[in-house]
Formats: sequence, structure tokens, C-alpha cells
Amino acid sequence: MRVLLVGGGGREHAIGEVLVRSGAELYVVSNHKNPGLARLAKGYGLAKETDVGKVLEYAEKFGVDMAFIGSEAPLEKGIVDTLEENGVPAVGPSREAAKLETDKAFARAFMEHNKIPGRKVFRVFTDVTEMRSWIDDFGKPVVVKPIGLTGGKGVKVVGYQLNDNEEAKAYAEELIRRDGRVLIEERTDGVEFTFQVFSDGKHVVPIPLTQDYPHAYENDEGPITGGMGSYSCPNGLLPFVTKEDYERALETLKATVEATRREGTPYKGILYGQFMLSRDGPVLIEYNARFGDPEAINVLPLLKTSLLEIAEGIVDGNLRKAEFESKATVVKYLAPRGYPANPVKGVKVEVNEKAVEETGARLYYASIDESFNLLGSRAIAVLGIAESLEDAERIAESAVPHIRGELFYRRDVGTGESVGKRIKLMKELGREFEPNPC
Ligand code: GLY
Repeated sequence: MRVLLVGGGGREHAIGEVLVRSGAELYVVSNHKNPGLARLAKGYGLAKETDVGKVLEYAEKFGVDMAFIGSEAPLEKGIVDTLEENGVPAVGPSREAAKLETDKAFARAFMEHNKIPGRKVFRVFTDVTEMRSWIDDFGKPVVVKPIGLTGGKGVKVVGYQLNDNEEAKAYAEELIRRDGRVLIEERTDGVEFTFQVFSDGKHVVPIPLTQDYPHAYENDEGPITGGMGSYSCPNGLLPFVTKEDYERALETLKATVEATRREGTPYKGILYGQFMLSRDGPVLIEYNARFGDPEAINVLPLLKTSLLEIAEGIVDGNLRKAEFESKATVVKYLAPRGYPANPVKGVKVEVNEKAVEETGARLYYASIDESFNLLGSRAIAVLGIAESLEDAERIAESAVPHIRGELFYRRDVGTGESVGKRIKLMKELGREFEPNPC
């Protein structure tokens, strides 16, 4: 089966690797030639991933049987609708279903009228005076969100990127003047986790939980990035997420898919729930309409079920199961110095692939070209897989010295100390639980 993968980041390198492992003949279209995908692919097209017409041309040229969409930007352009109208089934939601990610006001209203569990208090404003007086009356700390895609930037939270509700009002005013609308939500305190599922529009198949490290610097400091690393545990939970929390979060995702089906826009693809585990249980922070990056790199290599079979199940409506190895994983991303605000670009990095292989870690290429020049975003991910989190972290860490260049990374991703901090925070919030082994 010939599969066209759209996208060229670390997430797509992992998707491509696992598709090939399950017997697919791989073709890729992306903005730049990812050196890892270039080795796996039978054909490679360079085009903007959002140029739907060009992607369709490549799908026809390569004669593919199916497409797999990696990132959100082409989903917003309706890439799945266009491919399907032209006889190419695709793993990914339609433009309408992808609004769960691409239009945050839509997503909140959707949750509200479908009574999806895990909701938050929210309001959408187009009027500055109304927005200011609502925040004053609300009185509690808020989160200010642009409505559309922001590439992980743009969301600002009182107590983090904003000092108080006065600054929130000023930022919200800026967004109304820029975009015409703004979303204001109550702030929820707790610890975030990622819950991804496969869906064929009817059946929902869970993927092990992961936790992302969005801050640029160690100790969860610095600007928000696409994610500097992530980990997962052998039992598919996280140390601070109980089985009951897991079931409640899964219920949110199942109810979401069920509601999309009822509304005539069944959600097909990977649905990603970013949850905040609050004192009272999981609350949905936002939906994403695709795999997380780096979270895909944690879970896909653990798949025991063929990804090709899963992809066929998604497009045919016959999705049944996805089994994963019971292992711990740690991913650490190496990013150009200065990322995310002022990344070094056009500078070469040296990767001793053989030495990395000898550590037992795996490499995933992202924003780097075939000559190993940095392109400005997260460049290379290393993955450790082991029986325990401690060993997986050690393996990932041992690969880093074999990659040299103007790069930085977070040593603390998946360490006992950083995971312990998250457990402590949940206990301080008043939750009583015995941490899950990891
Ligand atoms: N790592 C967060 C995301 O993929 O959205």
C-alpha cells in the first residue's frame, strides 16, 4: 500500500518510520527535506504543506492509496476534504471536524452545547468594554486565548505570562483589535497531561498517556515552545494520573467523537486532548486535531498493532484496537540556541549516528535539512525506551553528547526530580493518591 505522509517534523519522522515498519510504501510531501524521512521514502515532494492543490498533485503523481496528515495547518485548509473528493482517503479530520483545534471559540461552544465533561467557564468577546467588565465581575484569574492557530504561542495565563487580570484585559484588547475576537477562560490550576486517541468517527481507541514539557528551559522556566520533550510510563498512565482520572478524561474524548458524529461531521484521525488535572479531576485545556510533537515519538515506536491497519480502520470506519508495548519512554528535543524567539539558523550540526545507535537511543530528525543545517525550529529528538522511566531517561541522555552544534535541550525531561515535582504539586492541591509506578 502506497501512503503519502504530509509533514516533515520529528512527529512525521516517527509516523513514517512506523508506517514503513508495518509494510507501507512511503511517499512524503513537506516544506523541507527531512533527512530521516528522505531515507525511508520512495518519493519525496517539496511543497508548502498548506498548498492543498500541490499536495494533491503529488498524491496523484505518486499514485498513493492513502494519505496521512501530520500537522494542523493543512487540516485547516481542508486538505482531507480535497484529497477525499479526489479519491484519496486520508487519516485526519475534515476541515469542519478539525475546527476543534483550529477555532477555539467553536471548540468551547461545541463542548458546551453537547455537555461534554471536563468543561471550563469561558466567554468569547468582540467588544472591548464588555470584555473588560466581564473580567472585572468574574474576579478570578483568567486565561486569554487567540481564536485561531498560533503554533503553540499566543495563549497567556494570569500568574504565568501575565501578572494579573489588568494585564489580561490589556492583552485581550490587543487581540480584539487584531483578530476581531478573543476567548477568555477561567484559569484551572493543576498539572497538564496529554491524552491521544485514534478515532474512525465511531470507535475510539486510546493511546498511552504522555506528559509534555512545553517550557524552553529547565525547571519549567522560559517561553512556551512546541514541546522540549515528553515521557510515558509502562502502564499507559502517568505517576500522578489515577485510573479514575484516566477514565474520566477518556469519557471527554469519547463524548466529543460521539457528538461530532451526531452533528454530521464525524471525527476521523487522531484526537489529542490537552488536559489539566485539577483538584477536582481532568479539565480539557484544548483539543488538537493530530498527534502531538514530541508525544507521537513516545508512543508510535511502542505500537504492536500495524499502523497501516489502524490507518485503514480509521478511513474505513472499522477501527478496532491498538496495542502498545508496556515500556517507559523519554524524548528530549535539541533545539537551536535562541529558540523559540531568535533561533540560530543555517548552521551545521554534527550527528554521530553510529555512536547514538550504540547508546540504544533512537534519533528523529525535525527542522533540519539534508545537509544537517538548522532551519530554526526544534531540530533533532532522541528517544529512550526501557522497562523503567529512569532507564529510558538515562538512554535518551546518553545520546545527546553525540550530537554537536549550536543547540540546547532540557536535561530534566523525565527525571525523577521533575516527575516528583508534579506529584508534589498535585498533593499540595489536596488530592490524595498513591503515585503510579513508572
Ligand atoms: N507538544 C504539544 C503539541 O504537539 O501540540
